Amino acid sequence: MADIPDLGFGLGLRTDHYEEILESRPRVGWFEALSENYLVAGGKPLHYLDRIRADYPMVLHGVSLSIGSTDPLDRGYLKALKALAGRVEPAWVSDHLCWTGVSGKNLHDLFPLPYTEAAINHVAARVREVQDFLGRQILLENVSSYVSFRQSDMEEWDFLAEIAKRADCLILLDVNNVYVSAFNHGYDAQAYIEGIPVDRVRQLHLAGHSNCGSHIIDTHDAPIIDPVWDLYATTVKRFGNVATMIERDDNIPPLTDLVDELDQARRIAASIPTAESVAA
Ligand SMILES: [Fe+2]
Repeated sequence: MADIPDLGFGLGLRTDHYEEILESRPRVGWFEALSENYLVAGGKPLHYLDRIRADYPMVLHGVSLSIGSTDPLDRGYLKALKALAGRVEPAWVSDHLCWTGVSGKNLHDLFPLPYTEAAINHVAARVREVQDFLGRQILLENVSSYVSFRQSDMEEWDFLAEIAKRADCLILLDVNNVYVSAFNHGYDAQAYIEGIPVDRVRQLHLAGHSNCGSHIIDTHDAPIIDPVWDLYATTVKRFGNVATMIERDDNIPPLTDLVDELDQARRIAASIPTAESVAA
């Protein structure tokens, strides 16, 4: 499969910013479009997607693959996703390491899996099937979680790493999700970062969240907090300057605010001596 480029610093493509992007051509290296918003033929979303794609590289990010479910893969969804990828020609396509429903019911949430050998076998086989169908490697993202399974007999990062290896897929490492889940489950976020194989990570996510004291909810409705920036610095140190983007899904500010926030990621990444820069 073809080598995947490093895109630099990007933003999530949001409806609120369509016009502003076209008018102001912001200092953004690329956009991440939510696949599900563009699966219906025709209409305004595809119109804007095509126009913005003409000016910027893009990646597709989905929430409906439900790779961990025991339901059969949704062939209709995969077919539509493949057609969209043919239209957009994204640098890559990603979704989440989770399940979103079972018995034909979509619960519209990203649920964690039990971290077991059986789940690794199940998910890895399905990822291979998806990759064969789409004709490309996919990226799987670590989700934020609030509950865990008693059956789990390994760490989440080992589970993710093993699936990536057996399925020969790539990883979208969400730094905020690592922070959120580490807080909620009481594990060490640094250990998570160190447990992920360097050669599998092609993209990073950053986002804000809501701290409720006893737990954190992954709301994507606020600026990124300093401890997540610190964890991002640690991440860049390990993985190098991997394509990085900010997700904002609620309480969406003007585009210029997000471009400024993205500058902070640029500054941090530029200040970190990576394994690559030290070697060069
Ligand atoms: Fe994310």
